[in-house]
Formats: sequence, C-alpha cells, structure tokens
Amino acid sequence: MFAMQQIVLAGGGCMGAMHAKVYRLLPDACIAAVVDPRGERVLEGLCADANVPVFPDLAAALERVECSAVDICLPTDLHRETALLALAAGKHVFCEKPIALTREDAAAMTAAAQSAGLQMMVGHCIRFWPEYLELKRAVDSGEYGRLVSLSMDRRTGRPGYSIGNWVNRPERCLGAALDLHIHDTDFLLHLLGCPEAVVSQGLRDETGWSSISTQYVYAQRIVVAEGAWNYPEKWGFQMRFHAVFERGVLEFDSSAKDTLMLTAGDSSAAAVRLPEPSGMSPAVREQIASLGGYYHELDYFVDCLERGEPVAISTGAQAAESLALVLAEIESAASGKIITLKKSSS
Ligand SMILES: NC(=O)c1ccc[n+]([C@@H]2O[C@H](COP(=O)([O-])OP(=O)(O)OC[C@H]3O[C@@H](n4cnc5c(N)ncnc54)[C@H](O)[C@@H]3O)[C@@H](O)[C@H]2O)c1
Repeated sequence: MFAMQQIVLAGGGCMGAMHAKVYRLLPDACIAAVVDPRGERVLEGLCADANVPVFPDLAAALERVECSAVDICLPTDLHRETALLALAAGKHVFCEKPIALTREDAAAMTAAAQSAGLQMMVGHCIRFWPEYLELKRAVDSGEYGRLVSLSMDRRTGRPGYSIGNWVNRPERCLGAALDLHIHDTDFLLHLLGCPEAVVSQGLRDETGWSSISTQYVYAQRIVVAEGAWNYPEKWGFQMRFHAVFERGVLEFDSSAKDTLMLTAGDSSAAAVRLPEPSGMSPAVREQIASLGGYYHELDYFVDCLERGEPVAISTGAQAAESLALVLAEIESAASGKIITLKKSSS
C-alpha cells in the first residue's frame, strides 16, 4: 500500500483537466505522470506541475513511473485497450464513462479486473452528484411517500471541444445516446433497478444518435428520460429531473439559481439546502461545490484504495449494465420495437 495514491492520468483533454482539478484537492492522491500524444503542452491545460512527466503512451509510463492506479480520460474507443494494459500491469483503474462502446469490450474489462483482483471504477459521476444523492435519499427513505413518476433530461449544444473531433465520429462515440444520455440511464439503474422494458425514439445524424427519448417500463411508475446534443453549439448545458412522490415533488434544474426545489405537505416550493463537506476552508468548499460529482467520485475511489476496500458504487460491472441498457434503448429507437429486458440479478 502506498502512503499516497500515485495516479497515472491517461488523457489530458477536457475530462483529464477536470480530474486534475480534483486531484489537487485530494490530500491522499497525486498525479505521477500524464499520458497524452500531444506531449508536454497538455500540462498547461491541466494546470499541472511542469515536473510531471508526460509520456506518449501508457506502456512507456508504466515502465518508468511507480503508481497504484491509472485514470483513463481517453476517447471512448480507447478505454478497453488502455484498461486491459493497466490491469495487466497490476494497476487499479478509474475509467471515464461510458465504460466502452460494446458489451463485449465492457465484459473483457470487467473480467480482467476481476481475475486480477484489482478495482475498476467507472466515472458515472451522477451517482455522486449532490442533488441526485438527495433524490436517492428521498426514494430510499420514503420520506415523501412512494415515487410515482420521474422524468430526467440532459441537453447540450453540439460538442465542438473534443481533441481530433472524436466525439462527433459515431464509430468512436455513438452519439449523445451513449455519451450523454447514459448518465441518466445509469442513475435510473442505481435508483430503481432494471426496468422490465424500454421503448425509445431517437434522431440520427452524421454524429450518430444525437437525440434519444426513452420510456422505461416499471410497475406502477411512469419513468422517462431524454438526452440530446442537437442544440446550437453555444446553447449551453442543462440537466434536470422532476420527481413526483405521493406527498411531494422534488425538482432539479442545473441552470436555476436554486437548483433543487421541494414542494411537500402544505408548503409551497422551497429551495433544498444540501449538506456541505465539513472541516474545510470556505474557499475549498466552494471549489468542491463547483466540481460536484466529479470531486466526490474520485474522493470515493481514492478512499477505497487507501482503505484497501472494494469499490461498491459505479463498479465496472454496474457500468457494463448501464451500457447494455443504453444499447437496448438504441435498438428500440432503430427498430421501433419495445425491447424487453432480462432483469439483472445484482
Ligand atoms: N463524466 C462526464 O461527465 C464526462 C464528460 C465529458 C467526457 N467524458 C468522457 O471522458 C472521456 C474523455 O473525453 P474528453 O472530453 O476528455 O475528450 P478530449 O478529446 O477533450 O480529451 C481526450 C484526450 O486524450 C488524448 N488522447 C487521444 N488519443 C490518445 C492516446 N492514444 N493515448 C493517450 N492520450 C490520447 C487527447 O490528446 C486528449 O488530450 C470520454 O470517454 C468521454 O465520454 C465524461
């Protein structure tokens, strides 16, 4: 066990920079090396120390640098080969979502982690996002009665930021249905388990499935979710949910001033105050709040490694189920058929 978790960060683009911000705040982790074919110029974007070595590929980094884990922030089509290389070298893996593009790739990754006895966590950050944690708490506790309907959505302008434009190439990303909407699909699995069936409609363009809307069939509940990135590039980003309980409504809108509102009992809508981390300066608390689930997921991962405990939330196996469910939604959108699902045993 290391005194400090030394992390090799594979990919120094958009998410690599987000993860680098988090590692700067975590006292028990640091970036030991960066892997990126763009070379040392990525360090500036990561605001990383100029002494952090940058390697063009992971094999070179693993030969030269000691580390406990590899954090994969690479285009999705590179997740499988990178995770397998890291696991074969005896390193734990944190992999950005989606785990992979195909069920076969996801199965190979989870099997490799299991047979090596190593941890593999996938960056389904919504499981760690404060407002969604409150939704899960409300459902699990039954505080406002049973959840009777839930709608979730996630919308953004066309992604123009990716290095090499991989996000807009369907063979590397599969479009908004997988890259964006999987956040809500994954959270639904976490919250309510596997639905009995899905029925979806989608829009396809040169970037793949740019918009998808799904009805998830659960007994005695109406559940829908939509994900789309076919908005103008400068439109911005918005994620929302609207949860109706027997005795209350919980509403989240990432673009609102008060993001989470509760209407319960005889009261009108009021902002919900979320718990804040304690024992930190106001400046650090503010940084953590701005990083949302990205901070909490990596904090959890590093904590699991420090304690030598298995990752239980957002595991590779759970991420493989989320991928399979999105692929079923795409199958429904492509065929116009309801897709019946085999319930998972987990
Ligand atoms: N959790 C989230 O909310 C969220 C948000 C955005 C992206 N993502 C996911 O994060 C992953 C990365 O996306 P991104 O937005 O950071 O992409 P990006 O294009 O911004 O960055 C990718 C980086 O990988 C580097 N790279 C490319 N090929 C490489 C290789 N062979 N070896 C090493 N580095 C290589 C590129 O130079 C670039 O720096 C994707 O799987 C994406 O779906 C997750």
